[in-house]
Amino acid sequence: MHAKLSILSSIAVLASSAAAWGIEGHSAVGHIADNLISPETKAVVDYLLPAGWNFNRSSTWADEIKGGATREKYAWASVLHYIDAEDVTPLDANATHPVECEIVFPRDSHGGMNIVDGIGNYTVRLVDPKQDWEQKSEALKFLSHFVGDVTQPLHTCAKLIGGNKFFATWENATQYIYNGRVSYFQLHVIWDVYIPQKDMNENFGGSLDAYKKWILDAVQPGGVWATEASSWIATDKPGFEWAKDTNDLNCGIVWDKDLLAGNGTATENDLAGEYYQKTYMEVRKQIAKGGYRFAKFLDDVLKGQPAGPVSSTAAATSTVAGGETTIPGSETTAAPGYPTGGPAPTDGPITSTIEVIVTPTNVPSTSQTKVVKPTGSPDTDTPVSAAVGLKSGVAAMFALAIGAVAFL
Ligand SMILES: *[C@@H]1O[C@H](CO)[C@@H](O)[C@H](O)[C@H]1NC(C)=O
Ligand SMILES: *[C@@H]1O[C@H](CO)[C@@H](O)[C@H](O)[C@H]1NC(C)=O
Ligand SMILES: *[C@@H]1O[C@H](CO)[C@@H](O)[C@H](O)[C@H]1NC(C)=O
Ligand SMILES: *[C@@H]1O[C@H](CO)[C@@H](O)[C@H](O)[C@H]1NC(C)=O
Ligand SMILES: *[C@@H]1O[C@H](CO)[C@@H](O)[C@H](O)[C@H]1NC(C)=O
Repeated sequence: MHAKLSILSSIAVLASSAAAWGIEGHSAVGHIADNLISPETKAVVDYLLPAGWNFNRSSTWADEIKGGATREKYAWASVLHYIDAEDVTPLDANATHPVECEIVFPRDSHGGMNIVDGIGNYTVRLVDPKQDWEQKSEALKFLSHFVGDVTQPLHTCAKLIGGNKFFATWENATQYIYNGRVSYFQLHVIWDVYIPQKDMNENFGGSLDAYKKWILDAVQPGGVWATEASSWIATDKPGFEWAKDTNDLNCGIVWDKDLLAGNGTATENDLAGEYYQKTYMEVRKQIAKGGYRFAKFLDDVLKGQPAGPVSSTAAATSTVAGGETTIPGSETTAAPGYPTGGPAPTDGPITSTIEVIVTPTNVPSTSQTKVVKPTGSPDTDTPVSAAVGLKSGVAAMFALAIGAVAFL
């Protein structure tokens, strides 16, 4: 087994599920898509999703299955939530080439186990008449999550494991407690949860519904992004184009030079200050892009798809282009080949090596702990009992290692 997979899976035993973009961000993406799909698309979607579900609901399913009884069954799918673009950001102090954010295949492909191919493969499965309802339903549930993840810049970035190894302070605190567990403020979780949550608290009276409504209004006729939104749609390899568009943010606003100069740890560049001020609107826009794109994408790919059971005769006689299928979202040309609920291929050409997570160079030296309960925060980071004894050395490394992959 390759290094990365084995490291991740051994840590995964200790760190269970976490919600990228948080439950709030994902459900906002879903809510926007729910409101923008055409009536014809909605009929197909209503048939394919479980009874009573919409995208507001299904958008978080792919994170939910990372825990509980489904954890092992779906463990193989966790790498489909992101793409490790091995590019050069301002973080690379010794970079030999100019700072450049880009996603390059096959460099970043990891044997097709990435979010771009994930979107491509599940799209193929969604519209393949040979697939049964369960397969198509599962494909749609995965897609409704991946279209959100693919707008989170740190899901398109290999740097410090998507920012999970970059530790910062947030409102002067270095750690937070959620469900009795302590975690450090990783850059990744700040993007996933803390930026949108602060925005919601400061500008929407803490209301997720009001936050969602603002974003939805922004992309509708007369809204602030109504005109711009049409440029968010990609017709050629949409998954790849979406990921590229998101990845660009890593070279500017995410791995901001000021932030890096202070390693995010100094009070004067606490990420809840200036960094928050210049990123919260970007987060709203990324969420808007996810919802808007998903709706337009589905209006396109679900055109003519059945909105109810198809007779077995019809299903048997319909054919998909045999052999190789061009996967709409991806860089890959291959036949649709996801396992349902795993196991996934574990011996693909995974070439990138991620070192075992040890002493981060930028762990804040102060250790104020803030007690906060973000919706959508992980509930499985460092147990308090371990954190209480956190000083340095092995225990700290162990705790940090758990935290570091919590938001992958
Ligand atoms: C969206 O989901 C949240 C819970 O995740 C729920 O509280 C809310 O009512 C849902 N909204 C819609 C419009 O379905
Ligand atoms: C930069 O290069 C020096 C000397 O080769 C090395 O010790 C250091 O670890 C490098 N730093 C980074 C961030 O790669
Ligand atoms: C953070 O610390 C600074 C300096 O001590 C203080 O002025 C500021 O109010 C603090 N911010 C928060 C959110 O506690
Ligand atoms: C940031 O981290 C680098 C590398 O670990 C270190 O050399 C530098 O002193 C740190 N800067 C601050 C302000 O802590
Ligand atoms: C997509 O399907 C192809 C063909 O079976 C496979 O090689 C590739 O690994 C799949 N991608 C993922 C992410 O499973």
